[in-house]
Amino acid sequence: LVVVRPNYATNIETPKAIGCAISYVDLDFDRGFAVDIERVKAELRPNTKLISVTCPHNPTGAMMTRADLDALVALAESRKCRLLVDETYRDLSYGERLPSAASLSPAAISVCSLSKAFGIPGIRIGWLVTRDPELQETFLAAKEQIGICGSVIDEAIARATLERRDAFLASLLPEMARRRDIVQAWIDGETQVDWVRPQGGVVGFPRLNVDAGFDLDKFYTRLLEQHGTYVGPGHWFEMPKRFFRLGFGWPTETELRGGLAAISAALRD
Ligand SMILES: Cc1ncc(COP(=O)(O)O)c(C=O)c1O
Repeated sequence: LVVVRPNYATNIETPKAIGCAISYVDLDFDRGFAVDIERVKAELRPNTKLISVTCPHNPTGAMMTRADLDALVALAESRKCRLLVDETYRDLSYGERLPSAASLSPAAISVCSLSKAFGIPGIRIGWLVTRDPELQETFLAAKEQIGICGSVIDEAIARATLERRDAFLASLLPEMARRRDIVQAWIDGETQVDWVRPQGGVVGFPRLNVDAGFDLDKFYTRLLEQHGTYVGPGHWFEMPKRFFRLGFGWPTETELRGGLAAISAALRD
């Protein structure tokens, strides 16, 4: 497996748990957290089965360009491996939404769910798309091993949600873009925090510009215990603690503004 790091934990922990040999392609803040296609190419082995990327990305909110997606698809095809694209946040793209990777090639697999853009993780409904009929059979068999049947009540909710998809997204996306602007305005005025502006999703991965001696553990504890604000410290993502994941989609606007002010205050306590 060649997988992007950092990542949503499951995309790394599940292959680890089944003993997969893993090569990591580390994302770099100074390159805008963009996937370096040449690095992916360099990590491919003759026995690589899967290239795994996430777009829009969790925790950074970075998105691939269409050219990079096409390059990864071509790479998977030429090396006879698969490209897995975790598209869980795809409906939350602020610019142009990329095509679902599976629509581009039988070598590509797309996964998505209703958890994020539609905010209903509780119904546990998502989907995997592949145009490879043999692989479809394999996944159907795996699904049968996990559960004989989906919940029809959940499926009815999913269907009703998807039927309202366009109208729902038309009001959600501008609101989430506005939230992102609130965070941007805070970062513009906060000398000790920088970020790569997310292009999709509702999380970003800011970096604290603090001295080497700054006690990051105490900062996160202070932020939570004294200011009631919780972020995802970098080590959750195998990254340095001066990075943290910031979610701007779930809190109310007042809570979001309060949380941002709390980070500034905790940096100076
Ligand atoms: C990138 C990404 N993929 C997958 C998931 C899991 O989604 P679900 O709970 O719908 O399987 C998440 C949830 O945080 C995510 O951020």
